[in-house]
Amino acid sequence: MSLDEKVAALHASLDGIVRQYSPAVFASSFGAEDMVLTDLIATDFPAIEVFTLDTGRLPEETQQLIAAVQDRYRIKVRAYFPDTTAVEQYTHAHGTNAFYDSVALRKECCFVRKVEPLRRALTGKAAWITGMRREQSQTRKDLQESAFDVAHGLQKFSPMLDWSNEEVWEYIRARNVPYNALHDRGYPSIGCAPCTRAVQPGEDIRAGRWWWEQPEHKECGLHTAPAQPTAQILSFKPASLQR
Ligand code: ADX
Ligand code: SF4
Repeated sequence: MSLDEKVAALHASLDGIVRQYSPAVFASSFGAEDMVLTDLIATDFPAIEVFTLDTGRLPEETQQLIAAVQDRYRIKVRAYFPDTTAVEQYTHAHGTNAFYDSVALRKECCFVRKVEPLRRALTGKAAWITGMRREQSQTRKDLQESAFDVAHGLQKFSPMLDWSNEEVWEYIRARNVPYNALHDRGYPSIGCAPCTRAVQPGEDIRAGRWWWEQPEHKECGLHTAPAQPTAQILSFKPASLQR
């Protein structure tokens, strides 16, 4: 499939989602693939709210990109923050950077700063959209374009699952889409500042995320919920039947 055909298919997927699920929201980390979705959604699908989980530990470059997106597209990005009391308790009990000490403490930090805010962001929504791609990691190779997210009780879409990294960048360059400055400094995948570093040429694209952990632990909990695949992106049930 050519890039134009992929873009047309992505557009059609978003169109199908917006027609049949209301409200539908897009979870954006402002990584490269999320910028493709942001560009299409902000331009043609104003009914889809763009939200981000502001963990309080995001790199300054990500904050700058969020500001640039709001400026360029004239949209408001809805930011969800962690619960203050939970952050205070975690920090008091374990320290500010306790995520380096054990996998359990890292997952607890991700729970407080991402997973619990995601629950709030998805409450009352009919569908959510992510920018996940199969190519990103072993754990994503069986990713479904459309699946019922049992944990959150709504439909989950990953309409870019078959896009390659090259296609993402071809789109960004062709349309002059803004992107995170860290990508040009060797960061293919970007999360929180203390848990992300640059990769060496030839290294896996997620090698810089939680680099001190074994690959099988590298999940923050946003996408680990069991999901029930559905056959076709266009065979949606009305939102009213989903809840
Ligand atoms: S993660 O699970 O390892 O952190 P990754 O960075 O690959 O996820 O992003 C996968 C998808 O999860 C993104 O395309 C986006 O939809 C969602 N996502 C990840 N981080 C955030 C965030 N901070 N805010 C909103 N959505 C996010
Ligand atoms: Fe905490 Fe790091 Fe997870 Fe961000 S990625 S929520 S700083 S453990």
